[in-house]
Amino acid sequence: MAQKVILTGDRPTGRLHLGHYVGSLRRRVELQNAGGYKDMFVFIADAQALTDNMDNPEKVRQNVVEVALDYLSVGLDPAKVTIFIQSQIPELTELSFYYMDLVSVSRLQRNPTVKTEIQMRGFNESIPVGFFTYPISQAADITAFKATTVPVGEDQKPMLEQTNEIVRRFNHIYGPTLVEPEILLPDNAACLRLPGTDGKAKMSKSLGNCIYLSDDAKTVDKGVKSMYTDPLHLRVEDPGHLEGNTVFTYLDAFCRAEHFPAFWPEYQSLDEVKEHYQRGGLGDGKVKKFLTAILQQELEPIRQRRREYEQDIPAVYEMLRHGCEHAREVAAQTLDEVRRAMKINYFDDADLIREQAERFAAKK
Ligand code: TRP
Repeated sequence: MAQKVILTGDRPTGRLHLGHYVGSLRRRVELQNAGGYKDMFVFIADAQALTDNMDNPEKVRQNVVEVALDYLSVGLDPAKVTIFIQSQIPELTELSFYYMDLVSVSRLQRNPTVKTEIQMRGFNESIPVGFFTYPISQAADITAFKATTVPVGEDQKPMLEQTNEIVRRFNHIYGPTLVEPEILLPDNAACLRLPGTDGKAKMSKSLGNCIYLSDDAKTVDKGVKSMYTDPLHLRVEDPGHLEGNTVFTYLDAFCRAEHFPAFWPEYQSLDEVKEHYQRGGLGDGKVKKFLTAILQQELEPIRQRRREYEQDIPAVYEMLRHGCEHAREVAAQTLDEVRRAMKINYFDDADLIREQAERFAAKK
């Protein structure tokens, strides 16, 4: 399908971690390399990050380049993918403004992701309007590029649903203009919501349970060593449990057949390891050692590429500037179509001016 347009983005509130990696970054690189798409966009959602970091612009500013480095180091290739910064595309704010007419306050209040975020941030009675309406701005991000395919985590599902409602409403009222996107979720439950190293629901900077893509080998080592396992598995001989066992969740997300001959030839498959663990007689230390080897192998080329890109930061900004230029062209094209559909393209419409002239002339 040559018309496929892939688009996704991240808020620059910190460096990207393993949760981002298995939830979306790894998939993006696969999509990029598989080809068969018309265009692919990956962007840094700095304006969205400011909706709940309005008082900390320096944090957002610092993390724009960190996220750009993370993108490049996982293997996103600016020759194949347009990487850009949200705030540099003013067309997005204009689109958001028009989409606001198509969404009710109560619909926004029902968005479950926003609901949880409002609670987590303690906004309660004083919710910033920009934060409350960010699902609308996200619909602009997606539709400005006529994205068909949005690879994101499960928490973004409500945003995609709201986007599709906006698209349907817009097209119904103003005529077919916008494209309904589809969400592309990770295909494996462990990747859908990677827990933090402490076994808590989700890897998240605020919980301090992250392993970052840019962490050095020693930090990754420590992260795995400290990982939550099975509190009932006290002695090696004890039967172990897999449920809620973070090390096994990570193995589900990262382990591949070729890792066994390379790092643990005593076993043929993850199922075999799991069976042994459940039966008893397999210690956490060995499983952790295996996971560490897998993670280091996966992360080392990422760290290496990052170090290379870090040598030429001006080139990273230059790459972003190029990306923004291309993104603006595409968004401006969509905005033209939107204005035409909404009948607010007065000066591009010679017919309009002629018709109005005739109408008023006929009054004489
Ligand atoms: N909300 C996304 C996040 O928190 C970031 C984002 C903004 C995004 N606009 C988007 C993702 C459009 C996909 C498509 O990670």
